[in-house]
Amino acid sequence: MQAGKIIKVAGPLVVADGMVDAKMYDVVKVGLEELIGEIVEIKGDKASIQVYEETGGIGPGDPVITTGMPLSVELGPGLLQSIYDGIQRPLELIYGKVGDLITRGVNVPSLNREKKWAFTPTGKTGDKVQAGDILGTLPETRVITHKVLVPPGIEGEIVKIAAGGEYTITDTIARIKTKNGEQDICMLQKWPVRISRPLKGKLSPKEPLSTGQRIIDTLFPLAKGGTACVPGPFGSGKTVVQHQLAKWASAEIVVYIGCGERGNEMTDVLIELPEIEDPRTGESLMQRTVLIANTSNMPVAAREASVYTGITLAEYYRDMGYHVALMADSTSRWAEALREMSGRLEEMPGEEGYPAYLATKIADFYERAGRVNTLGSNGREGSISVIGAVSPPGGDMSDPVVQATLKVVKVFWGLDANLAYRRHFPAINWLQSYSLYMDNLKDYLTGEIARDWVTIRQKAMALLQKEAELEEIVRLIGKDSLSPTDQLTLEITKIIREDFLHQNAFHAQDSYTSLNKQYNLLKLILTAEELFRSAVEAKIPLKRILSIPALEEIAKAKFITEDKPEEIEAIGQRLREQVGGLK
Ligand SMILES: Nc1ncnc2c1ncn2[C@@H]1O[C@H](COP(=O)(O)OP(=O)(O)OP(=O)(O)O)[C@@H](O)[C@H]1O
Ligand SMILES: [Mg+2]
Repeated sequence: MQAGKIIKVAGPLVVADGMVDAKMYDVVKVGLEELIGEIVEIKGDKASIQVYEETGGIGPGDPVITTGMPLSVELGPGLLQSIYDGIQRPLELIYGKVGDLITRGVNVPSLNREKKWAFTPTGKTGDKVQAGDILGTLPETRVITHKVLVPPGIEGEIVKIAAGGEYTITDTIARIKTKNGEQDICMLQKWPVRISRPLKGKLSPKEPLSTGQRIIDTLFPLAKGGTACVPGPFGSGKTVVQHQLAKWASAEIVVYIGCGERGNEMTDVLIELPEIEDPRTGESLMQRTVLIANTSNMPVAAREASVYTGITLAEYYRDMGYHVALMADSTSRWAEALREMSGRLEEMPGEEGYPAYLATKIADFYERAGRVNTLGSNGREGSISVIGAVSPPGGDMSDPVVQATLKVVKVFWGLDANLAYRRHFPAINWLQSYSLYMDNLKDYLTGEIARDWVTIRQKAMALLQKEAELEEIVRLIGKDSLSPTDQLTLEITKIIREDFLHQNAFHAQDSYTSLNKQYNLLKLILTAEELFRSAVEAKIPLKRILSIPALEEIAKAKFITEDKPEEIEAIGQRLREQVGGLK
């Protein structure tokens, strides 16, 4: 293949001519060090290339060779527990090899070629198979079984399949006779990151992705296969929300993409996430996690690629029939990478200097989420839920990245600087946030958790809205002028805020609350509301009502362990007795 020649280098952007063989989105090797780049624009025989590594030291005249392949990831066992950069180079290994985070042109394969995996065949000779069918399984980690699937595009008859035993990812484990001849299949597969993996069809979400976070699950729930965004100003708790979800969400696989603003924040993720104990298995959370890390000192183009790398890995596990949760923290840093590349390409800038195609790119990314019926003769159900943090400058919600994201995601958890300042965490503003999944989830929540789930949620929301109205009045004319019923409303919403919505991520008991317990807690508070309201109507002074001892117990109810729902029940009992005794 004929090499092109560099004619210009501008930061991460390189322009080369003589690129007659090249196609758009081809991966190219740039310069004598063979830096990895991707063609992002072609004009005649000139190609503009975004380079995923530092370009210092290369210059005009240096060769550029196209690989003829689009930017792809390696798929196979060994992804879980890995820490990658934006183009799937293993960070720890590179660290071991060159001593610093990443040096240029280091070619380490994404998946270990030597490691052997204990493969057990499920298919047998003579079976007719199609893309997505399971050829065999292996324990990838102590908690996740990896399913080796017939790759997309292949259909035929198994003529040979490996016996149970230990194989590397490049060993042939099956031979399939297809229309175009026999094909050897190994566990290692590749997929271009900018193209979504095929599926049979999308299904509408119907189960919650429970997160153990009370304000999220009860007021603004996310569905398995759904999309959510967490915008918020500096220090408002975006990363803590993402970590809590990685730890507690009812997903089997976690893909965490850290687009760190600062190197040290990313280091925190790299150190913290692997140390988190998986509450469901007692093992390290990494046993079911892939981590993709970009620090601000890594080349910007790799950051642009990282979200595609991440979602492709998520799709791979979805295709095995897993529920995957993908977090991207923060997509603003990704959009900034897009802006920088666009600026260097001298494209016409749109709002705030972002390229005009920003909204399309964001929409295409979230479009890869979903609950799906996978390929395969007995298609499996799998899902990808995507949760993107957005960090608009100054917390300004009119920011183009926030706006473009809100157009496509169905859940909005808006973090509020005032709540964070008052240390009300999670600082999710309950008046502005929303979830458009309530209709999808209604049947599940009312059928599996509690018949009146939707009713009590609505009641809590109505009370919180009423509180906001009353606060306006209080500001104008003071609290004493309110009627006893309105004063009661303020007392109850204070309880909802402080004893239900407020949740300390770092407290062993408080960090996670199951859906059943969330229901019991809120039901208890709303039972108090009803009892108190009839007492107020019976002209019992509010002060006397609020002095009953059960109120203190309500405040501590969230610390009751998950295995003792009868204790919450008993508080309700005492509450009834004590209010009854007031008359
Ligand atoms: N649920 C929570 N429980 C207790 N503390 C919390 C919670 N959420 C946030 N915090 C507190 O707020 C701090 C800042 O949170 P975090 O780092 O997640 O903010 P951020 O929005 O990601 O900030 P940045 O803009 O710097 O990325 C945390 O270190 C913690 O002290
Ligand atoms: Mg953060």
